[in-house]
Amino acid sequence: MINLGQGVVVVGGQWGDEGKGRVVDVMARYADAIVRFQGGNNAGHSLKIGDLSLVLHLLPCGIVRKDKLCLIGAGVVLDPEALLKEIAELDLLGFHVGPHNLQIAKNAHVILPVHKLIDHKREEVAKNPIGTTKRGIGPCYEDKISRFGIRVMDLLCEKILIERIKNILIERHSYSESSLKEILSWSLSFGQKLKPYLSDVGEIIHELLIKGKRVMFEGAQGSLLDVDHGTYPYVTSSNCLAGEAALGSGIGPKWLSDVILVTKPYCTRVGEGPFFTEADEETQNKWRQKGGEFGATTGRPRRCGFLDLPLLKYAARLNGATSIALTKTDILTGMGKIKVGVGYDNATNFLDAMSLFGQKQKVYPKYIELEEVPSFSPSVKNLNDLPFTVRKLCDLIEDFTLVKVNFVSFGAKRGDELWLNL
Ligand code: IMP
Ligand code: MG
Repeated sequence: MINLGQGVVVVGGQWGDEGKGRVVDVMARYADAIVRFQGGNNAGHSLKIGDLSLVLHLLPCGIVRKDKLCLIGAGVVLDPEALLKEIAELDLLGFHVGPHNLQIAKNAHVILPVHKLIDHKREEVAKNPIGTTKRGIGPCYEDKISRFGIRVMDLLCEKILIERIKNILIERHSYSESSLKEILSWSLSFGQKLKPYLSDVGEIIHELLIKGKRVMFEGAQGSLLDVDHGTYPYVTSSNCLAGEAALGSGIGPKWLSDVILVTKPYCTRVGEGPFFTEADEETQNKWRQKGGEFGATTGRPRRCGFLDLPLLKYAARLNGATSIALTKTDILTGMGKIKVGVGYDNATNFLDAMSLFGQKQKVYPKYIELEEVPSFSPSVKNLNDLPFTVRKLCDLIEDFTLVKVNFVSFGAKRGDELWLNL
């Protein structure tokens, strides 16, 4: 951690659920503030602190550490109900959240109940559903881009609210006096509850950086779910890449000094869409049981498969990764020989493979096989304590991406990790 600069971005190198929460949790120790900059409560960041396991959806993972300032940037879409529920749940666990340790960008957009309804309905009737989390994320971003969304600060002004809610309902063909009234009272009540948390988050971050403090930017979802560069249309509705850390928080890109790309030694995805190295059902079940591969937000079983190195190479380039964090290596134990995707028979790279998928053609991955991984977790102190296959995986990842692996974790709890080359 010693060699990291001031603006540290942590992003997912696959389709989300790579263990970003796990990485941010340990690194937050060395940061002054932690920022969520995109997505919403579609995210599920799992943490294990001693015997306590918890999942955060909207709050940055730094919230479980005393004296860390947590920030929600303008690029996030905020469901006020979900936020207040998460705050209340954390309070019961002894983690106190208030304006002293949480500030929210005034100009973040609000997820309204109507957005959730649209998300639900659309997924139910779609011929080719995306498999969204049904949290209203897409419809909220749609309204923002269409320029009739509601920002958190709008919740404080009745006159503006009436105008904007009317607009949304008319645009969404669901205008009625009673809907207007219902949404208005919902909005005003949440406006008052959120008021103490609202500020110019970009300004706060800028001030911290100018003073030489370190800020961590916690990505949500993953590179392949990015709306521009992911496996479109099977993506989320925001940019999940490192560049968004600047835009979604309200600072300039010059402040982003380090980009940590998080990856598992295998792949998972929830929802529909291309997954070239997806395993057969029996193997998927093994990964699911061993790795607890069930959605932290929706509980859905995750689709599982093998590490896809061309995919990781693509993600490393998209993010300008400066280091790689390899998580969940303990899950490899007991999985037999480890297959790794090193290319495709009928495509030159990941984007090329995506084009084939778009033309409804099958993509054939090329694999190599690495030897079985013995049980190893408790005794790891340095690189040589890691099993041969894990070290080989690090080498392969570095050869493909030209980025150093700086972090390897081999257990869910704090301390089950190794820092390399730092
Ligand atoms: P949405 O973000 O709810 O619109 O869902 C779009 C796609 O992104 C679906 O395939 C979801 O399963 C996936 N997705 C959204 N958030 C996450 C996440 O945090 N982890 C993994 N997949 C996600
Ligand atoms: Mg997750």
